[in-house]
Order: sequence, then C-alpha cells, then structure tokens
Amino acid sequence: MRIYKTAKALQKALPKDKAIAYVPTMGALHAGHMVLIDAAAKLHDVVVASIFVNPTQFNDDADLDAYPRTPKSDVALLKKHGCKYLYLPKVEDIYPKGTKFSAAEGIDFGPLTDTMEGANRPGHFDGVAQVVSRLLEIVQPTTLVLGQKDYQQVAVIRAMVQRLDIPVDVSVVPTVRAKDGLALSSRNKRLNNKERIAAGTINVQLAAVVAGLKAGWPVDVLEQLALSGIGQNDLLNPEYVQIFDGDTLLSYLDGDNVRELVVATAVHCGPVRLIDNRIVNQSNP
Ligand code: PAJ
Repeated sequence: MRIYKTAKALQKALPKDKAIAYVPTMGALHAGHMVLIDAAAKLHDVVVASIFVNPTQFNDDADLDAYPRTPKSDVALLKKHGCKYLYLPKVEDIYPKGTKFSAAEGIDFGPLTDTMEGANRPGHFDGVAQVVSRLLEIVQPTTLVLGQKDYQQVAVIRAMVQRLDIPVDVSVVPTVRAKDGLALSSRNKRLNNKERIAAGTINVQLAAVVAGLKAGWPVDVLEQLALSGIGQNDLLNPEYVQIFDGDTLLSYLDGDNVRELVVATAVHCGPVRLIDNRIVNQSNP
C-alpha cells in the first residue's frame, strides 16, 4: 500500500481507466471499517481509503481533540485487507481555500437534517457535506462506500450527491457489531470496562423496539420504553430514540406505509456520545 499526503500525488498515481471504490474514514480503524474496505474490493479493482479527522464536522472542540488517532494500526489493517491507495491529507490539502469554503455551502437538506444528529450537533452535517464533496472531487470514484451505522449521514450524502450532480454511486454496508451487539465505533476505544459493558444495552433496547414494531406496538410507547430502558443504567444517558421513515427521515406515524422503517438513538456513555440504529425490516441490521 502506498500513502499519499496530497491530492496532487494521489491523483497522479490513480489509474485513469479503472473504476474506483472509495472508503472515506476518520481513522482509528476497526473491523467495521474493514468490512467497507472488503465490500469496496468486491465492487471494483481499485480501492482507495482516506483517513482525515475533519475538523469542520466536530461541533465540540473537546471531542475533536480527544478523537482517537491510531495511524500505525490503521496502516497495518488497511494493508492486511489489500488496500493499495491510502490518502492521508493535512487540513490545508483538503481546504486550500480555507475551512470556510464549501462546495456544498447553502444546500438545504430540509427534514434530513432537522432531527437526530442534525438537531443535536449543529453544523455537523454541513461539515460532513463539505468534506465529502471535496474528497469526491479529489478521488473521483465510481462508487462511494458508506456504513449504515451512520444512517442519517448516508441520507445527507446521497442528497448532496444529487444536488451537486456528482457522478458517483453510493453503496451502503450493514453495521458491524461486537459479540454483545454494540456497534463498532472508533469512539468505543475511549470507554472504560464498566462503560463498555453498559454500552451493550443500547443495541438490546433497539432490538426490543424492532420486536415491538413488528408486534404492532405504538411508536410513542416504544420510544419512551427504550429511552427509560437505556436510562435505567446509571452509566448511560440517552439523548433521543427516534422511529422514522428511512427515506424522508420524518417521524413515523403508526400505520404509515414506508419502504424502510428505522429506529435510531444517540446515547452519552462516559466521555463519549454513541449512535446506533436498526432497520426494522432487515434480518440482521
Ligand atoms: P468514520 O466514523 O471513521 O466512519 C467511516 C465509515 O465507516 C462511515 O461510512 C461509517 O458509517 C462506517 N462505519 C463506522 N463504524 C461502522 C460499523 N460498525 N459498521 C459498518 N460501518 C461502519 O463517518 C465518518 O468517519 C466521517 O463522517 C466521514 C464520512 C469520513 C467524513 O468525514
């Protein structure tokens, strides 16, 4: 695997006549990221990964400073999974015109960013759209590979790709979980043993919501039950549990006919804020 520190060097090295599958990340890589790399390799001959802790999508400086950085093991993992191109830029390479400039500036995502992460992390999705639009401009992939773990992020990026008319397919990979069901996340590295055990409750409660929805329980009852179920653990402080239409991200109303029904949550656990979701009509979401 070769590491490219500038857009120019990467673009020079990438083959012009081959389809590229691209996996953007913020590093502290784990098995969840690797499933994206493996999925990318199945799609196209050329796999590009990037590691860039994007400052503009953090609405909390402390979270940005404390974001885990594990470059040595990241490189080893990517090599092991056969990734040949790693883009590892500095802030100036991504934002040569300064961090204020964004090709995605002013896109109104409407209801896609009105709730959940959009409502609770002001500016977060503007930063995501800004960095992903720039990364796509640099890498010019045929397919962008994203994780379902960040369900709302996928919806926002899809909308951005459409509004900016970027010629790229978006491929989504199901969430990879630890044995106890906790969604793998770079932020899990910051949990102590007790917090890590408590965090296992999050997925258990989401699974209960899925079962309740399948049994026809009312949405508001299920959201409240999950909130109190998670909150019962002293180490967990849930921010929201929301059941919504996966296409519009609007709250689901009992009886609505939707293509994809989803439940998502954000939970504070020790020093971190964890997010997770499950698609109701998927056997192993
Ligand atoms: P990061 O959190 O590093 O995640 C990179 C990609 O890995 C995202 O598409 C995310 O959904 C996926 N991912 C994370 N954990 C996963 C898991 N347990 N199972 C499956 N996929 C998982 O998301 C970001 O970085 C950034 O916002 C980024 C898109 C790179 C823009 O800065």
